[in-house]
Amino acid sequence: MAGTITFTMIKPEAVAAGNSGAILNKMEGAGFRIVALKKIQLSAQRAGKFYEVHAERPFYGELVEYMSSGPIFAAVLEKENAMSDFRALIGATDPTEAADGTIRKEFAESKAKNAVHGSDSDENAALEASFFFSDLERF
Ligand code: RTP
Ligand code: MG
Repeated sequence: MAGTITFTMIKPEAVAAGNSGAILNKMEGAGFRIVALKKIQLSAQRAGKFYEVHAERPFYGELVEYMSSGPIFAAVLEKENAMSDFRALIGATDPTEAADGTIRKEFAESKAKNAVHGSDSDENAALEASFFFSDLERF
């Protein structure tokens, strides 16, 4: 059963805190299959491009600076209903509003430094996965 894909990043503060393994374990434990995975540091320019949809938001500059501040893990995940099930697994953007058992509830430091990214539509999942991975890097 192939399912659908979503795209995720483990954000710099969670990588720096040594939580990458625990977070990946939660993803696999929830039934997501890792299709592609890499550790990478974004330049400010590349982070700015990734978050272009937020360019007009007041937190854009802070977000770009933060997301380029250290290495991240980027991954493509596969599951039935991957995008929506993964948004449920990570929880609300602000960890104080995230439900018990969610990744952000357990690992996020703040609304800005919230441990993980998850795509917000199937279309964006495909675009974001292609931003980081070629077909040759997906299994
Ligand atoms: P993401 O895209 O990272 O999965 O997060 P999301 O959909 O839950 O939230 P979104 O509205 O897309 O915001 C993207 C990221 O920007 C940072 N943010 N900071 N300081 C703030 O008020 C604020 N609001 C958003 C967070 O890192 C958020 O995940
Ligand atoms: Mg988002």
